[in-house]
Amino acid sequence: MLLSGDERSAIERAADALAAGDLVAFPTETVYGLGARADSDAAVAGIFALKGRPSDHPLIVHVADPSDAPAFASRWPDVARRLTESFWPGPLTVIVPRAPGMAAAAAGGQDTIGLRCPSHPVAKSLLAAARARGVPGVAAPSANRFGRISPTRASHVVDEFGDGLLVIDGGDCQVGIESAIVDCSGTRPVLLRPGQLGRERLEAAAGVAMGEPDAQSPRASGTLEAHYAPRARLRLMPTALLNTALQMLGDSALKLAVYSRSVRLPPGSLLRWRAMPGDPDRAAHELFATLRELDAEGPDLIWVEEPPPLPAWDGVRDRLNRAAAA
Ligand code: TXA
Ligand code: MG
Repeated sequence: MLLSGDERSAIERAADALAAGDLVAFPTETVYGLGARADSDAAVAGIFALKGRPSDHPLIVHVADPSDAPAFASRWPDVARRLTESFWPGPLTVIVPRAPGMAAAAAGGQDTIGLRCPSHPVAKSLLAAARARGVPGVAAPSANRFGRISPTRASHVVDEFGDGLLVIDGGDCQVGIESAIVDCSGTRPVLLRPGQLGRERLEAAAGVAMGEPDAQSPRASGTLEAHYAPRARLRLMPTALLNTALQMLGDSALKLAVYSRSVRLPPGSLLRWRAMPGDPDRAAHELFATLRELDAEGPDLIWVEEPPPLPAWDGVRDRLNRAAAA
């Protein structure tokens, strides 16, 4: 069931549902989340079941106010403090050592926990209304089936899970790709997943260089394996190769869709084509919706022009690489 996030009654109703241990999908500035109260292992089990996600994959716990986060941690590292002071509320998740007994199922059994204070007004009111009902935080992965494209519109969530789920509609997610994740639990911070916030801005705020994920890094499903899979196969194409291939193909491959920034289709081409914005924030904003739309037309293959090799494109490039690996 779809409820409007503009209506106070919808927020109250969704907060009641969360307090009762039910699932609620809600908008954040990054993507829509599938939420359950983080302090109930039974409620959290509902997320894993509905998503089809392995229960040892940890979830992010969302809090209404930055000051609510340290209660979930056994220690609040300096790096986490600097990063959250700079970027919360906003599209950043920090991994910190978990307070014993807190949100064990949400953390997938790890001794660390991922925390985020989102900035979306609907997310903020929902989290605050839930907290007023005794909910200390809301565990929420992206509201898609495991491994598939994250939802950036309420209609995407309904497409994933049908009408039985309570979904709060907060419009289009402004950022469009998931939060940046920084593991602050070790001796040196590690960037597990770039988002709209990339390495440069995070390191500037943290005041230290960040490491790369390695085999010892905690498992992050959005960070390691193939992910964000459209039904069609997706290939990332260097600009020159894409240009040449399209000239050679003509319309002999009608079940091909193309998503490109600088490359245009040859005149008269009947291939499906969408323009990727030249600005990285705008490209992130519409990335998942565009992939869903192209995929819905049923192509066998989606060719995507490689983004420019610039730090500002790290988040988009990361999601496309993983979609191509699926
Ligand atoms: O923008 C976002 O982060 C969205 C919105 C809803 O907040 N959420 C999101 O959740 O993308 P999800 O579950 O799709 O991705 C969260 C990632 C996963 O890859 C998970 O493995 C990682 O965060 N993660 C969470 N807790 C962790 C922990 N304690 N240690 C390592 N990785 C963790
Ligand atoms: Mg996800």
